[in-house]
Amino acid sequence: GKVAVMMGGTSAEREVSLMSGGGVLKALQSQGVDAHAFDPAEKPLAALKDEGFERVFIALHGPFGEDGTLQGALETMGMPYTGCGVMASAIGMDKWRTKLLWQGAGLPIPAFVLLADDSNFAAVEAQLGLPLFVKPATEGSSIGVTKVKHPGELRAAYEEARRYDKLVIAEAFVGGGEYTCAIIGDKALPTIKIEPATEFYDYQAKYFRDDTVYRCPSGLSAEVELRARELALTAFKVLGGRGWGRVDFLMDEAGGIYLLEVNTSPGMTSHSLVPMAARVEGLSYEELCLAILDMAHV
Ligand code: DAL
Ligand code: MG
Repeated sequence: GKVAVMMGGTSAEREVSLMSGGGVLKALQSQGVDAHAFDPAEKPLAALKDEGFERVFIALHGPFGEDGTLQGALETMGMPYTGCGVMASAIGMDKWRTKLLWQGAGLPIPAFVLLADDSNFAAVEAQLGLPLFVKPATEGSSIGVTKVKHPGELRAAYEEARRYDKLVIAEAFVGGGEYTCAIIGDKALPTIKIEPATEFYDYQAKYFRDDTVYRCPSGLSAEVELRARELALTAFKVLGGRGWGRVDFLMDEAGGIYLLEVNTSPGMTSHSLVPMAARVEGLSYEELCLAILDMAHV
């Protein structure tokens, strides 16, 4: 039957989603799937039924695509869709509540503080130490994120993040490297180590610069690799994740793993990480898209 590849949307990650969706659309079509682009910013969801779509591949990122709202609407329409359900999507989109949940489950995370207009910014700098990261809680692709390196800069970073979100968090820096682990079905793929040429893995590094170094296999020892994959799976399950997703984490110098966040609708651009890990696992981009589509459900 007809498959809608949902892409675009209205979040700050619209451009990323158009790249993800474009790749997915082409891949599914090349495999003989009757796939069509569907941008919810241009058409009401009811058009899915009117136009005879039978399944949805969600390639939207950010609010109103990745945050459970769309998932809930598709549930009520009885329209099978890829990836996480309502709850995992809603919690996963919110870095603050994800941290609270992981903390409650006893999983390792960097120290963090929820910021507000009346926060004692100097005290937070002292508590978390510098550098630290400031992030809008419900954006992706590092939009609105600042690495605070010098005393007194936290408030400005907060105000920048505040442009994107009412919820803003400050997070302690963990300096042993940035990694990610893709999950497909109930399986964790090989971890990837990300070595940005920029100060951190920001929007430009994620999608446009070609000087970010990705290592997959990541170079972790077999023991740590296994621990990281198991932790990523546990973190995903604690959120109620299903289908597919990607768990980002940091390492410290002593081999400690610190969970950062989950992406319940990960990027599928030519620069993206899940396709990279899948390739190492012997799964082509096309096979990956088909595998994700096969798990669509309502
Ligand atoms: N939020 C982007 C799309 C990602 O995590 O891949
Ligand atoms: Mg994210």
